[in-house]
Amino acid sequence: MPCELKPRFLVLYGSQKGQAQSIAEGIADEAEERGLFADICCLSEGHKVKLSKTKYSPVVFVVSTTGDGDPPDTAQKFVKRIKKKTLPRDLYAHLCYAFLALGDTNYADFCKCGKTIDSRLLDLGAKHFYATGHADDGVGLELVLDPWLEGLWEAIRGALSKMAAPQPERDATDNTGTALKLDSSGQTGAPPAVVEASLTRSLPPLSELALNIPALPPPYLDVMLQEATIEEETNAPVSKETLHEVPISRAVQLTRDDSVKTALLIEIDISSHPMAYQPGDSLDVLCPNRASEVGELLRRLGLEDQKSNRIQLSLRKETKKKTAQIPSYIPENSTLHYLLTWSLEIRTVPKKAFLRSLVECTGDSGEKRRLQELCSKQGSADYNLYVRDHNLGLLDLLTAFPACQPPLSLLIEHLPKLQPRPYSAASSSLRHPGRLHFVFNIIEFPACAGRPVGRRGLCTGWLSDLVDPILVLATADHVHVCVRQNCSFRLPSDLSKPFIMIGPGTGVAPFIGFLQQREKEREENPEVEFSETWLFFGCRHRDRDFLFREELQGFVANGTLTHLKVSFSRDTPEGTETQTETGPRYVQHNLLSHAKDIVNLLLKENGYLYVCGDAKNMAKDVNDTLIEMVSAELQLDKLDAMKRLAGLREEKRYLQDIWS
Ligand code: 2AM
Repeated sequence: MPCELKPRFLVLYGSQKGQAQSIAEGIADEAEERGLFADICCLSEGHKVKLSKTKYSPVVFVVSTTGDGDPPDTAQKFVKRIKKKTLPRDLYAHLCYAFLALGDTNYADFCKCGKTIDSRLLDLGAKHFYATGHADDGVGLELVLDPWLEGLWEAIRGALSKMAAPQPERDATDNTGTALKLDSSGQTGAPPAVVEASLTRSLPPLSELALNIPALPPPYLDVMLQEATIEEETNAPVSKETLHEVPISRAVQLTRDDSVKTALLIEIDISSHPMAYQPGDSLDVLCPNRASEVGELLRRLGLEDQKSNRIQLSLRKETKKKTAQIPSYIPENSTLHYLLTWSLEIRTVPKKAFLRSLVECTGDSGEKRRLQELCSKQGSADYNLYVRDHNLGLLDLLTAFPACQPPLSLLIEHLPKLQPRPYSAASSSLRHPGRLHFVFNIIEFPACAGRPVGRRGLCTGWLSDLVDPILVLATADHVHVCVRQNCSFRLPSDLSKPFIMIGPGTGVAPFIGFLQQREKEREENPEVEFSETWLFFGCRHRDRDFLFREELQGFVANGTLTHLKVSFSRDTPEGTETQTETGPRYVQHNLLSHAKDIVNLLLKENGYLYVCGDAKNMAKDVNDTLIEMVSAELQLDKLDAMKRLAGLREEKRYLQDIWS
């Protein structure tokens, strides 16, 4: 059927890292296979489709949330526009829509952007034709995403048929009148069978089930390898406006050799590059994939002999993927070796769609079946347990499935762009002109089924190899970096406002920058009365991993830091949760023992609170402790205490720079 005759709907997405976009594109592509036609548009272009007068109804929104509950860059203007109080209450009365919000419960304000847009659309008269899904990247988007997508098509058809034959409006949550529960807590279908199996071997009960397998993603790229005559390029893909190549001027190991984790500080020389930064900003570092892994992948693909050949990409003539594009981040004329080294994230955990495609690339029936299980609805628990939670990459899977031989085109279609890794700046340029410091622990992955012993984090492993000779010989090497501003994570501009910093482990990094800046400000403004400054730091052992110990004690000695509270989690006897003879165990226990002062500084003296470090446990536990403290000190019930903290966040006085 020509597309203009097909029933038509609109997909709008707001994406930061591309996840919402690729889901939206998947919906648009699948529409075609289902005899429908979907226009697709980014919310940044939303004004062009004129939602207030749109001829499209239904509309499907897919919107992610980023940072501290912020809209993705591409959705910022849209959110601002629909939040305007002057908009007429019936602006979207003609609109019926479905909403998929993406978020991560490791961060504050789960799905905040999606929730804001969704409720504002309802305020302005629009109606749901399908229940909103809130998919949680913290536990696996697919838990909500898969059933949500599964139910979407019937709902769209229902909405389209109502449009064709108008009926009295019904304020239903979905087209069937059934309330769908689509939150991270549950699925619509039967819960996935929890099976005891290994990565490669399935057990009979699951094998006997008829599997519910996702549709095979349509391949869309043709790849040719052409013999190259020019020398292969080996450098990072540096574009002058974005990345700068700078020398490492110093490297220091901050932990003792007997510490479980090794923390390194790297100083880069940015004096000859226009890279201004402020404490609170972070540094993006581009690192290549490990040469040994690139070599192994080439060998596994049977392309070792062709690694210096140039790749040529084109869209397949018969491509069914309407939104298909040649990835823009793959430089023209790059060699195969370069592609695998600098362009593709080869360590990424393969998504289920990728596993689905791999089913077609093995001739071994056992492997086929297991791959089918891992990408099926029933195999979700196995996928999470054996693939996602263990952070297995493509190479691990190819090792576990030796007969699987994917074509290069599949890798390019499914592997995302190799992204630079962000590190908080741990210095102030007032104290270290022309220099920037950053700090990290060398990540080590535990061995597991499918992964060999001794694998380190991609960037932290690479950086530590790079600085190894510097630590010994002080020879310089170069890295490709750029500064990423974090305009909300800044010292209070009012010097009289107190602030409290909570940063265990390498989470202390931005606070070293804050304190260096404050120290300088104090030197330059001797007449000013400065506020109180608190730092809650935590590490395992006083003598092994107390990062920046001397520098912090120096800040205390000269009055820059008025309160330094340190907790040692492993010097404290096990099971002693709060204050003991040897001290509190974690930062939040220390915080609790100063509850009165902290609540007073924050809520009576309009102070600022900064939290930096692990999102999964620490930032959550600190937040729970703050709720407890506010509730006890101000005699509020839990809900009101939470509201007071939410108010602090709104005023940008409770700020987080956290990672998982
Ligand atoms: P642990 O490793 O002994 O559990 C820096 O990593 C410090 O943060 C360590 O002392 C670590 O303790 C501690 N830490 C671990 N989990 C934490 C949590 N949930 N809240 C606060 N600190 C935590």
